[in-house]
Amino acid sequence: MELNTSGIIGQSTTLAEVFKILGKVAPTDSTVLVTGESGTGKELLVRALHANSPRADSPFVPINCGAIPKELLESELFGHEKGAFTHAIRSRSGRFEMADGGTVFLDEIGEMDLSLQVKILRVLQEKEIERVGGNGCKKVDVRIVAATNRDLEAEVQAGNFREDLYYRLNVIPLHLPPLRERGGDVLLLARYFLEQYCRKKGRSVLALAADTQRVLLAYSWPGNVRELENFMERMSILVDGSIVTPDDLPAKILDQVGDISLLPEIEEAGQSETAVAQSVEIVQTPVAGTAADPGSFVWPDLAVMEAHGLNLKDFLDVMENRLIDEALGKAEGVKNQAAELLGIKRTTLIEKLKKRGQ
Ligand SMILES: Nc1ncnc2c1ncn2[C@@H]1O[C@H](COP(=O)(O)OP(=O)(O)OP(=O)(O)O)[C@@H](O)[C@H]1O
Ligand SMILES: [Mg+2]
Repeated sequence: MELNTSGIIGQSTTLAEVFKILGKVAPTDSTVLVTGESGTGKELLVRALHANSPRADSPFVPINCGAIPKELLESELFGHEKGAFTHAIRSRSGRFEMADGGTVFLDEIGEMDLSLQVKILRVLQEKEIERVGGNGCKKVDVRIVAATNRDLEAEVQAGNFREDLYYRLNVIPLHLPPLRERGGDVLLLARYFLEQYCRKKGRSVLALAADTQRVLLAYSWPGNVRELENFMERMSILVDGSIVTPDDLPAKILDQVGDISLLPEIEEAGQSETAVAQSVEIVQTPVAGTAADPGSFVWPDLAVMEAHGLNLKDFLDVMENRLIDEALGKAEGVKNQAAELLGIKRTTLIEKLKKRGQ
C-alpha cells in the first residue's frame, strides 16, 4: 500500500525516518506511542496512521486525556450504566465502544491518573472493557494509539506513570523531532502556510526575503509547527506589500536570533534565491551558450528544471533575477540603463526589484 502522508509537509531526513516507520506500522494492529514536543504534529501523524491502516473506514476516535476532568474520563472512555453515579440518568457507551473496528487515540496520555492507567492496560491486554457501574466485560476490537509531549520514562521513574503500561504502549515508538531539528522544512512549511493563508484572504502570495528566511531558519520555534503556522497567518494579515522582510518579524524572534548579518547563509538548494541561482548556474554551462557564443543557446528543458527540484515559477524567477542582476551590473546600477538593456520600462524594473526587497 502506498503511504498517504495526509498533508504532513516535510522533506528532512528526520521526518523521512518517521514516514518509514509509519509505512511499516500502519497496516498492523500494533500499539503506537507518538512522542514529541507540543506542536510537532503528533495528532496529524496519528490521523495519517489511521488513514493508512486497514481500519481507515472505521471510526477514528480521539480523546484528550488532559482536557477531561479525571472523574469523567473513565466514563467517557468506557461508558457507564444507568445509576452508576448521580448524573448517570441513562446508560451510555464510551469511546472504546464507539471506536469498535477502528482506532482510539489517547492524546496526552501522560496526564492520565494512575488508577485509570490500570484499566487501559487491561484493554490492551484483554481487548475488553467494562462500563462504569456495569457488571461484566465486553469485547472491543480497537487499535490504541497514544501520544504525549512528556518524557514518559521520566514519569515512570517519578512514579507518575505505570511502568507496565509504558512498555505495553511503547511497542512502536514514533518520535517527532522538534521543528528546529528539521532544517529546510521550516521554509517549506512557512511557504506552505503563507500560501494557504494568503489564498484564504484573497491576496497574492507573499514571498520571504532572503534575510527573513535566514531568521526563520535560525529561530528555535519552541511552539514548533503550530507556532510557525500561527505566525504565517499573522504575516498574511499584517504585511503590506508583497514580501515579508525582517522588519515585519516580531521582536521575540528578532531578539533571539541576534545580528542578522551574522546568521549563516542559506544552503538548501531550491530554498533560497541565492542557492537556487548558484545551482542553476552549474547546469546552465552546458545548456546555454556563453556570452561570446550566444548563438549556441539551448532552451532549458523539463529535465533541467526537475534536476533542481524547482517548479516553473521558481525556475523562471531565477532566470529573471540573473538577467536583471547582469543588466544592473552592466549599467553600474543605473536603473534607466538596466531597464533599457532588458527591454522593459524603468517602472517595471523598479517593481521587480521591490518584489525582491531591493
Ligand atoms: N509536518 C506538518 N505539515 C503540515 N502541517 C503540520 C505539520 N505538523 C504540524 N502541522 C500543523 O500544526 C498544528 C499542530 O499540529 P498537531 O496538533 O498535530 O501537534 P501536536 O504535536 O498534537 O501538538 P500538541 O502536543 O500541542 O497537542 C496543526 O494545525 C497541524 O495541522
Ligand atoms: Mg495534539
